[in-house]
Amino acid sequence: MILRSLLFVPGDSERKLAKSESSCADALVLDLEDAVAADRTEVARTMVLEYLRAHRDRSSSQLWVRINPLSTPKATLDLAAIVAGAPDGILLPKVTSADDVVTLDHFLSALEAREGVAQGSIAIIPVATETPAAMFALGSFAGCSPRLSGMTWGAEDLAAAVGATTNRDASGNLEFTYQLARSLCLLAAVAAEVQPIDTVSVNFKDAAALKQESEIARRAGFTGKIAIHPDQVDVINDAFTPSPEDVAYANRVIEAFASGAGTVALDGKMLDMPHLKQARRTLTLAASLRSR
Ligand code: COA
Ligand code: MG
Repeated sequence: MILRSLLFVPGDSERKLAKSESSCADALVLDLEDAVAADRTEVARTMVLEYLRAHRDRSSSQLWVRINPLSTPKATLDLAAIVAGAPDGILLPKVTSADDVVTLDHFLSALEAREGVAQGSIAIIPVATETPAAMFALGSFAGCSPRLSGMTWGAEDLAAAVGATTNRDASGNLEFTYQLARSLCLLAAVAAEVQPIDTVSVNFKDAAALKQESEIARRAGFTGKIAIHPDQVDVINDAFTPSPEDVAYANRVIEAFASGAGTVALDGKMLDMPHLKQARRTLTLAASLRSR
């Protein structure tokens, strides 16, 4: 299932967990990592497990958990605590390569067996650009695990790891290094045949900027985006849902190819196979969103 919006919810916040119950996010990502203070980790694990148990069968959102990085001793403790709640998936931060996904896959298989959770049911989305080493391993994800269902990227932790004081240039645009992270994540996800998911917009009060960023991401090929505030969810869902105009145009493209020709003209423009492929993709996505 395509996740258009994934809303981060700090795992130790009673108010935010309560608020997330009314969210229309396609997925909630209950956070055990950076949104939780170090001395609150254990409380957060307990709260996240309780939330999963209480909402698993009645939440309209998928329920995901961001655990701590596998390079820290917290990661296995996070997993041991929360797999019993049968989350839909794990968001894995600060990976260094696909090997981390394979390791997590093995941990999940063992814990699913222990907890009586269906084998292979917990999916994985890595945050694939948060370490410099990961940037050189983005080609390693294809086929690494059947659990891999998407890939996303981040510019903040990468900048911190690089030692950059900012990841923006003077006009506020991402520096080349972080644009590269975005592009490579997109290509890596498509090459691995999983969903490319755009990173957060931290400026959560600026709905117009979010709309614009989401539309740019969708045109680039991303099929979803991460949210950090409930107000961002509708904007993101909207941007990643084909509009009636998109669907009408896709239908016209498909009609134009009905004769079986390989190249056709529509509205004074040449269309060939890539356009037909894109039109089919739009209709498939629109139909799958309608049937939810
Ligand atoms: N999930 C669920 N509910 C949230 C939320 C979130 N991510 N962010 C805010 N809310 C709730 C607030 O609790 C508040 O509801 P309440 O009045 O019932 O308590 C309501 O939405 C409005 O929140 P607002 O006052 O506008 O924001 P804030 O100042 O409380 O919080 C942030 C701002 C950025 C701290 C908060 O949005 C947040 O914690 N986001 C997630 C951060 C995160 O997980 N980061 C890690 C990934 S980068
Ligand atoms: Mg982070």
